[in-house]
Amino acid sequence: MSNLPTFSALQVMQDAPVIPVIVLNDVAHAVPMARALVAGGIRMLEVTLRTPQALACIEAIAREVPEAVVGAGTVRTKADAQAAANAGSRFAVSPGYTSAVGQACRDAGLALLPGVASGSEIMMAQEDGFTELKFFPAMQAGGPAMLKAWSGPFFDVRFCPTGGVTLQNAPEFLALPNVVCVGGSWLVPAEAVAAGDWARVTALALATHALRK
Ligand code: 3PG
Repeated sequence: MSNLPTFSALQVMQDAPVIPVIVLNDVAHAVPMARALVAGGIRMLEVTLRTPQALACIEAIAREVPEAVVGAGTVRTKADAQAAANAGSRFAVSPGYTSAVGQACRDAGLALLPGVASGSEIMMAQEDGFTELKFFPAMQAGGPAMLKAWSGPFFDVRFCPTGGVTLQNAPEFLALPNVVCVGGSWLVPAEAVAAGDWARVTALALATHALRK
């Protein structure tokens, strides 16, 4: 029995040109950071499960920033998926794909953007019913040329390239018909978070709207 996600992966991808990949080390940063992104028109927020504080950050954003839709990134196991859902995540992003993670996200009611970097991984994710995928690590694994090559055999798959994507190279990805949005950490620079420079985060978010397809 699966819980139905309130957002589909496609809706998560279509909301803005960029899904910010967020690393937080301090729960106190979570709410102002989320508000800064929302003020810049970005509401789908991927908080990576890479720090001990990540789940508490997701909880705080889910509780205090209703305009945001918080998701968990770096979801690698069934336990990650369950913990992410319990903390209030509405979607999940994984760096790779296993059927176990796919099923765990379905069971938890989380839309999943599974990470893929090869044709076999795309086929495994498709076999399990996933057709909106994260291409990771995008620049290192072949960049826009790889997505062009995949558009033939995988004509029914849409991608969110992430990894090495910047404001400068994003247009080349977004111009491709099989790319819906990109992901990137550049909207939330570590030094801006450490300094509490939320105006910079809002400015970086606002700058992404010129990328809209
Ligand atoms: C990640 O999971 O680290 C993302 O791919 C972010 O990559 P970036 O820092 O190159 O944007």
